[in-house]
Amino acid sequence: MVMSPPLQTLNSVLADRVTLHQLRVFAVAARHGSYTRAAEELCLTQPTVSMQIKQLAQVVGMPLFEQVGKKIYLTQVGKELSSACQEIFERLAQVEMTVADLKGMKQGYLKIAVVTTAKYVIPRLLGPFCRRYSGVDVALEVTNHRGIMERASDNQDDLYILSQLPTDIDFKAYPFIENPLVVLAPRSHPLAQERNIPLERLAQETFIMREMGSGTRRAVQKLFDEHKMQIKVKLELASNEGIKHAIVGGMGISVLSAHTIAIDGEGSDLVVLDVQHFPIQCHWYVCHLAHKQLSVVAQTFLTYLQTEGKQLLGMNSSGLKNHLPVSHHDFANNPTG
Ligand code: PGA
Repeated sequence: MVMSPPLQTLNSVLADRVTLHQLRVFAVAARHGSYTRAAEELCLTQPTVSMQIKQLAQVVGMPLFEQVGKKIYLTQVGKELSSACQEIFERLAQVEMTVADLKGMKQGYLKIAVVTTAKYVIPRLLGPFCRRYSGVDVALEVTNHRGIMERASDNQDDLYILSQLPTDIDFKAYPFIENPLVVLAPRSHPLAQERNIPLERLAQETFIMREMGSGTRRAVQKLFDEHKMQIKVKLELASNEGIKHAIVGGMGISVLSAHTIAIDGEGSDLVVLDVQHFPIQCHWYVCHLAHKQLSVVAQTFLTYLQTEGKQLLGMNSSGLKNHLPVSHHDFANNPTG
């Protein structure tokens, strides 16, 4: 019966005199139970495999395989060495993954597409993230709801941020923060001082609306449809900033995300009207295609948004609060939902 030498002794001998290449050749031969198949897998000749294993056995001082008929079997020492090899190569693979992850963080590329309303928030959160992971390059696409749907259908990005989850795209969605839609008017507007304005009264005003394909527009349309009311659209504009200027210019009133005005500060020429059924309580989601294997960078950014990102926005919620009518301040006290 072949006795296995103590592992401690084996290790010390092997550490000095055995190469990783020899261990790898041996491990593959042990897995296949065949020198020929090991040679095929490793793209070596069969005599090379045989030579490497012979040299290894000489260092160990015991045979690693025994031949019975045409087959080879691991000896007890061979079994012990085989299991040690498994541990060594598993650990090396783990180290390799860690290195890949770290490299990923240093050299990663992050592709995000966000709805137009989220552009007021996401770039601010990207700053601290990119400072921490200085090797991460970011491509940020800003488009409307329909644009996001098209990009997601083509699997163009790592992450998407939007309010209205589609039914025809298999998304994994993580609630991010509230996105209240508010009625905006110029400061001089006759309704500016009114409270609890009925929707019917609002319907008498002329509106500046976002373009078709905008999620904001769809949410406003839905509310009016539910109340069987028409919106008098005077102007269509595919830009939140453009709409704000058009409101100040007296073209009409509009409904936009409260985030679009939070950044303007106290001196804004716009006022939020206190209208029944408003704000429309939308919620942003961070999403990715359900079948997509997220890169390390994308996963890290997703986690960052849900933790520190929310906190950072929470700290800045006063900007949002200042732009909501008094009766809606409760929302701004808890903007992260
Ligand atoms: P959008 O945004 O109006 O730019 O399409 C809608 C949303 O918040 O999902």
